[in-house]
Amino acid sequence: MDHIKAAIRTIPDYPKPGIMFRDITTLLGDARAFRAAVDAMIAPHAGTKIDKVAGIEARGFILGGAIAHQLSIGFVPIRKKGKLPFDTIGQSYELEYGTDEVEMHTDAVKPGERVLLVDDLIATGGTAEAAVKLLRRAGAHVEGASFVVDLPELRGVERLRALDVPVAALVAFE
Ligand code: PRP
Ligand code: ADE
Repeated sequence: MDHIKAAIRTIPDYPKPGIMFRDITTLLGDARAFRAAVDAMIAPHAGTKIDKVAGIEARGFILGGAIAHQLSIGFVPIRKKGKLPFDTIGQSYELEYGTDEVEMHTDAVKPGERVLLVDDLIATGGTAEAAVKLLRRAGAHVEGASFVVDLPELRGVERLRALDVPVAALVAFE
């Protein structure tokens, strides 16, 4: 995982003072690191039957799209409120100040479908938890979740595991 971690750039004080922003665009631009990350996000769930990948806007679309292609299965976009054109269901979640909401098309998953949730990074886990709730409300089984980056101090992985979701994260930044 060392070359995956080394391919991630850190931008201090973005978007706010005190935040160390973990920028995966440099990983995406490195063919070897991008492929290694996609393969490593799939590997922990290898024994699990998966019908669809659900990716969280925005960087989860890039990784999730590549994983769906690799597995030859469909992709479900989970988007910020107001972006999807058809009928949607929404799930709000807490931010440091205020709330945000993610949405999914009502017909994006069929009841009983087994889904792998994908995003670039898990911090507090609020976004991923909202995505799990959305998928479950639609009748999907969330078989696992994969992230490139975990920020363990923020305990998002524990939060997701408390929902009985098997979680894989490739690298951690303290
Ligand atoms: C980042 C990241 C995750 C989320 C994780 O997205 O890509 O989706 O934050 O944070 P959490 O675990 O505390 O919920 P961001 O909010 O920057 O949105 P963007 O991808 O649309 O830029
Ligand atoms: N989302 C939440 N915290 C983040 C961080 N430190 N870097 C990139 N995305 C984030």
